[in-house]
Amino acid sequence: MDVSFSAKQIVPSATLAINELITAIRDRGEKVYHMGFGESPFPVHSLVRKALCENSWRQRYLPTQGILELREQVSKFYQTMFGLQYTSKQIVIGPGSKPLMFAALTALDGPIFLPAPSWVSYQHMGRFLSRNVHHIVTLSENSYRLEPELLELAIRVHAPDRDQQKVLVLNYPCNPTGHSFSAQQLREIVDVAREYNVIILSDEIYALTHFRDQEHHSVAEFYPEGALISSGLSKDRSLGGYRLGTLLLPADEKALLRSIIAVGSEIWSCVSAPIQYAGIEAYRTDTKLVDYMRDCAIVHELVTRYAYQRIHDMGISCPYPQGAFYLFPDWNNQKEELKKKGVTTSGELAKHLLKNWFLASLPGSEFGMPPDDLSVRLATVDYDGTAAFKAFQKNRKSAIRNPKEFVLSIAPSVVDGCNQLEKFTAELGS
Ligand SMILES: Cc1ncc(COP(=O)(O)O)c(C=O)c1O
Repeated sequence: MDVSFSAKQIVPSATLAINELITAIRDRGEKVYHMGFGESPFPVHSLVRKALCENSWRQRYLPTQGILELREQVSKFYQTMFGLQYTSKQIVIGPGSKPLMFAALTALDGPIFLPAPSWVSYQHMGRFLSRNVHHIVTLSENSYRLEPELLELAIRVHAPDRDQQKVLVLNYPCNPTGHSFSAQQLREIVDVAREYNVIILSDEIYALTHFRDQEHHSVAEFYPEGALISSGLSKDRSLGGYRLGTLLLPADEKALLRSIIAVGSEIWSCVSAPIQYAGIEAYRTDTKLVDYMRDCAIVHELVTRYAYQRIHDMGISCPYPQGAFYLFPDWNNQKEELKKKGVTTSGELAKHLLKNWFLASLPGSEFGMPPDDLSVRLATVDYDGTAAFKAFQKNRKSAIRNPKEFVLSIAPSVVDGCNQLEKFTAELGS
């Protein structure tokens, strides 16, 4: 059968190739240190479980935009947690933030600008939609932060007409780097966006996983008229499989809202009814759920900063993580040594780590980095989240005071993964 033009714009990702290798290794009975997959491992909060059970009888289709009670609850959540004012009319509920971002990119006209590195899916969405996608390569010495000058330069090169609308996708805390923006850094980006007619699609799904020494500021604070904010339950509430995402739109963007709902109505119809009703509970801010989210974020912080410190101590360059549960180290300073082992691209590096060191990672090229940039993304969530959460609640103070001991006890596989990286790096040097 012939494959369509749109489908040809997407190639199967290296993630799949790595996953196949993992399966083959596991089938041989060997251990794999899994730092390739990033899913928050904590248990579903009991209040949400209860709400889901109580609403399991609901079988009817619901409005595509999402039920009013849920949108009102999301509106209160944003007011309480971030000080943002969104009415229920400006909120769309979808089956995860990924399809909502796809709907937003479908609805918004203009070329798409993506910082590199950035999360794997944006570029594929853009290509699937046959849109011009421009990567803006950022610098490792700036923790791969998008600088306003870099944005302006990319716009001047690729779409200099100020009247033409453009779309910039931002994501922070960032998957893959864990890096975030300060209020001032966001203001500077927004200045460029205003000047050049750039709409910002801000993927803030990791907002509430920021670490304790970092604040989260939404782009919407500085650019309410030009930003769309995407988020959902997948990360801070560990509910990826529930498939519930949110998209916040500027006030008075009726045509855009109508188009996004039209995409949803033709593709997913609505988010499943029991999940929307359980979502009302998951967005309450007057229950223990807020403490749960904060504690989950602290466990992510302890494990991710432990792994960061280990990598830093190996002399490997890696941005300092400020949120989420990823690290983005690179072995660019060891290019010559790696070449001798036949490794000249990040894809080959990820394969080498898996084949020889049983360590699963994702190549930097999947995140838009040039292929010869020897970076990989590591996820720091390969542990039993239920046991880790219990242990943290039981001994909160001592876990915070002595994070290394805590991580050694709850995340041995992450520790082993770091040991493998250390051996690999040491061997390169010798
Ligand atoms: C940066 C980023 N955005 C969006 C998503 C997808 O989230 P959802 O489960 O809401 O579709 C992920 C999931 O890995 C992610 O890392």
